[in-house]
Amino acid sequence: MTSRITVLATGGTIAGIAGSAIAKDYVAGQIDIEAYLEQVGGLGLEAEFSGRQIANIDSADIGPEVWNALHPAVMEALADESCQGVIVTHGTDTLEETAFLLDLTLPASKPVVLVGAMRPADAVGYDGLRNFANAVRVAGDRQAAGRGVLVVMGDRVFGARDVRKVRTRGTDAFRGFPRESVGLVTPASLEWFGAPWRVDASAQFAWQDELPDVGILFAHAGLDAASVARFLGEDMRGVVVAGVGEGNMSEAVRQELVARRKQGLRVVRASRADEGLVDREPEDDGNGFVAARALNPQKARILLQLLIAHGVDDPAAIQRAFDGS
Ligand code: SIN
Repeated sequence: MTSRITVLATGGTIAGIAGSAIAKDYVAGQIDIEAYLEQVGGLGLEAEFSGRQIANIDSADIGPEVWNALHPAVMEALADESCQGVIVTHGTDTLEETAFLLDLTLPASKPVVLVGAMRPADAVGYDGLRNFANAVRVAGDRQAAGRGVLVVMGDRVFGARDVRKVRTRGTDAFRGFPRESVGLVTPASLEWFGAPWRVDASAQFAWQDELPDVGILFAHAGLDAASVARFLGEDMRGVVVAGVGEGNMSEAVRQELVARRKQGLRVVRASRADEGLVDREPEDDGNGFVAARALNPQKARILLQLLIAHGVDDPAAIQRAFDGS
């Protein structure tokens, strides 16, 4: 059966051009959505597309401005009865952040799938068309609803909260943690691992046009309190520590953060390690700190921004949100 899919394009390598099939350097966000869908037309997919250009940029430049245009565009598509699913094309570098932000702020009523590519469109071995064809299969599948925002890369389907870019090169650049992946996909087949998990289809957070200033502090050997104070400045409202090991930091850094916590700064401990849970430690109660659990620092930052924007201030309430995320 033919699916009706809305494609919202933001740029990235999936729309990138190198000018040569073997060039190393290229420019992301060069092909516009009409031209892209024309190319896709040659694949013979059982889908009808309606495309819209939200941006055409390198995803390193994605932030509130693009998100404020993207979110209402997805909502509009979801409200359109003729639309069965939404695909967002996106650069891979910050794809996980956009995916998680949308996951927390969209209803899970229809499939929303983010997709990118690791090689530009004119490169030998371009992965963008296969990833796109896979995304079409996922976005057109009824079983994809109720799983929140999904990411399709390298023949695998990832949940937005699990997915991480773990390699700078290669078409297998993405991995999920703690769930490795939630499905396997090819242009011709789709296999889900388990049932949909979003029991409540409504959005977890209402959309906010303005998100508060929350930084990520990268801990390292020799990091001192003065550097932390400079980083925090006067106005930062929350900080996620990309801590060493299981969200750890030196005593000097901890004391600086405890002092700032007493002045209202929200502090979340995550890890700079690729993988692993950060659980609460006994001192967190007295310090007023929160443990990021399975979220990496960049996703912990997004959740903390949304919580602060919604007036959630108490560390225990923030911790509950992280426990449930
Ligand atoms: C980008 O994130 O826009 C560039 C890199 C990529 O898409 O792989």
